[in-house]
Amino acid sequence: MFHTSRRSFLRQTSQAAVASLFPSSLWASSEKVSKASVHINLNQSRGTIEPEIYGQFIEYLGRSITGGIVDAKTNAVRTDVLAKIKRLAPPVLRFPGGTVTKIYHWQDGIGPKANRPVRPNLIWGGEETNQFGTNEFIQYCRQLKTDPFLVVNMNTGTPEEASNWVEYCNGQGKTSFAELRRKHGFAKAHNVKYWGLGNEENAGPDTGRLQNPATYAEVAWQYAKLMKLQDPGISLIMAGHDEHWNETVLRELHPITDYLSMHLYASSRKGEPASLFTQLAGFEKQIEQTHQQIKRLAPEKIEKFDRWYRFPPRSKGVKLAIDEWGIWENEGKGRYNLEVTYQWFHALGVASFLNMFQRQAEIVTMATWAQTVNVLAPIMSNDRESICQTVFYPLELYRRYCQGVSLHAEVKSEELRQRGGENLPMLDSSVSFDEKTGTATVALVNRHPAEGIETSVEWEGGTGLKLFERHELTASGLMACNSLENPKKDVVTYQQTVLTHHPATITVPAASITLLRYKMV
Ligand code: AHR
Repeated sequence: MFHTSRRSFLRQTSQAAVASLFPSSLWASSEKVSKASVHINLNQSRGTIEPEIYGQFIEYLGRSITGGIVDAKTNAVRTDVLAKIKRLAPPVLRFPGGTVTKIYHWQDGIGPKANRPVRPNLIWGGEETNQFGTNEFIQYCRQLKTDPFLVVNMNTGTPEEASNWVEYCNGQGKTSFAELRRKHGFAKAHNVKYWGLGNEENAGPDTGRLQNPATYAEVAWQYAKLMKLQDPGISLIMAGHDEHWNETVLRELHPITDYLSMHLYASSRKGEPASLFTQLAGFEKQIEQTHQQIKRLAPEKIEKFDRWYRFPPRSKGVKLAIDEWGIWENEGKGRYNLEVTYQWFHALGVASFLNMFQRQAEIVTMATWAQTVNVLAPIMSNDRESICQTVFYPLELYRRYCQGVSLHAEVKSEELRQRGGENLPMLDSSVSFDEKTGTATVALVNRHPAEGIETSVEWEGGTGLKLFERHELTASGLMACNSLENPKKDVVTYQQTVLTHHPATITVPAASITLLRYKMV
């Protein structure tokens, strides 16, 4: 009745689509089934889902760049890894860190490769050969058709160094750094739009020197001025942290802040997969609170801005960039245990994260998953090959189908009981509507390990939406994972089904991720 394709499913979808003749409720196995409803209001938008929420991040950390993005011996781009990142289709890629930005000097990574210095990676250990520098990164972004996002050094760097980087990348005139870029073979400016002013500058144990919000705000102004004078068109991402830190940063910097950064790493308690989802509920509250704080401190429009700044203030409202997010369990391999193996329940967590970003579309307009290869990553590699971890699949699926406007949806489902904790809804959902194609996508994550959910989807504010396609991700078990030791085996199953009838309810299996696609007819 349906064809299952594994791994490279996005290239195989057209072959995978076959008509289904049976009501969806027959799909469920003999597992127990509960009921749920999703009530969607077509007239209640939660904001536009910006494609940038599907971004990625790479850092000079362990085997993320050297051994992941490029071959550790030859420094050539790993084409197997590149092909997998292409499937993730990130619209934005953040680089070079992360904490490592606190020691990174961009001029180490330009010019003839033989002349580039090898430096100790004082943050993460090991040595960095600087063979993958600014131009290699930009070329990588061009291959991926992604926007580069650079983060400047606010610890051992200077505002002038950051400003020179902007000139090197974006300078159009005959000035020295723009000329240097040309000399290095890049006649056309790179036009890097996104610039992060530092990373986690609050972090006490880090080598950072700012570490209190007032100091950060003062120094960030200096950086911003010199960088904006080079190119007033750039967008700035300011380092965020907790409510107290953000209060000062927003108050002082809001006229030139395009994005306030937030980092969200989830983890679970051993043996309690559901504790991962509880944490996400806490993150959503944090996003909502920060949204309110932004509304209170940062007006949509800047009315007064001294003309002697010689560049304009931001032109849109301040938004949130979740420029590091992901799942950080403490049991990984490699340096600082950062090579984490993701089980299937982690993929359910990733889909729940993406549902949350869609629900919060009004304020979360950029998000870059930390990271991409080997380090907290959807892709793992060794010297010979690479594999997709379980978390890869929801990232790939959502990026392809969830776009347009985020719609308000009320979900009623049974609760997932938690040991000693707050109970959670079994079913997590988000809804997007693409006005260009008249297609709505209802994303459903059934977080129950053993029960299916018979779900009715109700539409308000419009008629004529018909279910035409179903995409489903399941795995051989909640704890199942892919590994380089057994690279041919993939525990994840993907099913795409074209529907020729219009069932009243859909049964989503236990521990599954489902996208239901509806079209206006
Ligand atoms: O992604 C790994 C590290 O996590 C980053 O370097 C840092 O920004 C965060 O604490």
